[in-house]
Amino acid sequence: MKGLITAGGRGTRMRPLTFSTNKHFIPLANRPLLFYAIEEMVKAGIKDIGINYNPGQLEEIKAVLGGGERWGAKFTYILQRRPLGLAHIIKVSRKFLGKERFVMHLGDNIFFPGIKSLVDEFRKNKRINALLVIIHHPENRRMGVPYFDKKGNLREVVEKPENPPHDWAVPGLYFFDHHALECFEGKGAISPSARGELEIVSVYNWLLNHGYKVAVKEFKGTWKDPGKFADWLTANQFLLDKLLEPKILSPVEETVQIEGRVRIGRQCQIENSLIRGPVIIGNRVRVKNSFIGPYSSIGDDCEIINAKIENSVLMEGVVVKNIPKPLDSCLIGKESVVEGNHHSLKTIGLFVGNQCVLKL
Ligand code: TTP
Repeated sequence: MKGLITAGGRGTRMRPLTFSTNKHFIPLANRPLLFYAIEEMVKAGIKDIGINYNPGQLEEIKAVLGGGERWGAKFTYILQRRPLGLAHIIKVSRKFLGKERFVMHLGDNIFFPGIKSLVDEFRKNKRINALLVIIHHPENRRMGVPYFDKKGNLREVVEKPENPPHDWAVPGLYFFDHHALECFEGKGAISPSARGELEIVSVYNWLLNHGYKVAVKEFKGTWKDPGKFADWLTANQFLLDKLLEPKILSPVEETVQIEGRVRIGRQCQIENSLIRGPVIIGNRVRVKNSFIGPYSSIGDDCEIINAKIENSVLMEGVVVKNIPKPLDSCLIGKESVVEGNHHSLKTIGLFVGNQCVLKL
């Protein structure tokens, strides 16, 4: 069985960061978002993985992911010239997929505690041509929604219906065999929706209309879709709660107080500060006269002096200096500098792109 992971798209909801960074490489709990999808696929035993990317982004993707060796996997990079929809990704991956069964995992989705049981089910059950994964979701009107007949059989899947009859929704994990590739060919080929995209729901509907067998299975874990700023911080909280393994890998002075679950990387210098977990701090980070509070992820090479930070994600090389009021619920891009003059009056919440300088 092969895997497809998405790493293209527009990333409009994560601007301004996505003007200079691929959304899939923004960190959660100090690891690029895409790593979570890769790891879950590999844990499920899928090592032959295609990853789609936008024009101009291959170099960045290769620099971060290499050829897949660090996961014991083999990556094939697939150019998607324009973000024309999730089914379009399958279309441009036809050569890579060949005749194999495959699972497609959106690179910006997180399925906790993993997808292995669903992968095993699809791998074993060769009588089905596709598997539609569903979850309960209160806001399913902004997602794909399955519709069932009176007997409970899947009839069709509708993208963003106005009045869904129940709270079932389709998250970003799709299973198909090679018959799915037939939906792009010939007279009855699927066509772009009103928003100009080849929709993934159209692939399922095409299979249903052509007599192929589509099974339905509930994903019973937690699903996260950190596509926008607020959801990013919630996903960061969730991952710190679930996955953080406390460990202190740098010498810590007596003037430093550590409470709760805290991980501190190598070659850090931490002085006269309070760190209250869950918190993850990368390598070579300097913290002085500061408070780092719950649900903060501090990337490598950051510098935090005379500041208070809570519930925030700081990417690599961020400098925060001389800010007396707490920075709360912030996402700050690589190598940005946020510097105060000791007179700032309120709590500060920031969503800052890469390499910015903010003087407060
Ligand atoms: P979305 O989150 O639906 O879209 P997006 O990432 O472009 O972001 P926004 O809506 O803020 O503009 O995409 C889901 C996943 O699929 C994500 O990993 C990006 C990827 N994708 C592609 O790779 N190609 C595409 O054509 C589309 C539509 C999405």
